[in-house]
Amino acid sequence: MNQVALESVVQSVDELPSLPQVALEVMRLTRDPNTSARELNDVICQDQAITANMLRLANSAYYGFPRLIGTVGEAVVLLGFQTVRSIILTAALGDTLNKEVKAYSLEKGELWKHSIGVATAGRMIAKRVGYKYQDLAYTAGLLHDVGKIVLADYLDKYCAEVIEKVNADNVSFADAEYEILGIDHAQTGGEVAKKWNFPAEIVEAINFHHTPDSAVQDPKLTAITHIADIMCTVIGIGIGVDGLLYQASGRAVEILGLDETILEELIADLIDVFTAEATEDK
Ligand SMILES: [Fe+2]
Ligand SMILES: [Fe+2]
Repeated sequence: MNQVALESVVQSVDELPSLPQVALEVMRLTRDPNTSARELNDVICQDQAITANMLRLANSAYYGFPRLIGTVGEAVVLLGFQTVRSIILTAALGDTLNKEVKAYSLEKGELWKHSIGVATAGRMIAKRVGYKYQDLAYTAGLLHDVGKIVLADYLDKYCAEVIEKVNADNVSFADAEYEILGIDHAQTGGEVAKKWNFPAEIVEAINFHHTPDSAVQDPKLTAITHIADIMCTVIGIGIGVDGLLYQASGRAVEILGLDETILEELIADLIDVFTAEATEDK
């Protein structure tokens, strides 16, 4: 067995750049009920790249706002703190998640598309099942596969072996990854989220997005992330080799109170959003 030492993966996580200062500041400010829209606006406007990205995202079909949002101030007032936080985080992570991740057969842009897909699906599920923190569901979805970026360097050497194991032993890609490397991308992603100081529920949701039955702090959030990931796999949004033998946990479906009809409706809604977005991109 070619076990990769956990310490060396953790060290790679440590070497990852931290989130941009503006994003950290926005995370902090949007949690403080005394923050004014003006303060938030001033912080965001300090970073031109994030501002430009934010306005592009705020006007995309994912947010479905009926008219053009022209300034950061308008976005803050019209979309609210929660949504602005999600958008800023999305804008800040664009560069990190937009890379090609060869070891997972993800071309440039595919992991990004998948991350946005799972974030969007997570928020839709949260809304549908009455889970209060839709923003957390979005963030967990956005970050769930971030571990792939770190683990890709290690997986490169063992990818053929992992795929062979999936085929020979009939196990999921994440299980094979764990067997061969001694750590999987979900655990690695949990380490990244910890390093970036995300709340414990988000760390857990990332850590267990392939094994949601293990969640104890907020099993609903983990279940939402898991089902959102499966939905994107089913409709083929940036799946790469991770989609191999990936099955929904019955317990996750149960604790969210989902049934086949609701799942079909959610999938149809998700396809609608992505079709609208693809049309806009042209
Ligand atoms: Fe994953
Ligand atoms: Fe995924």
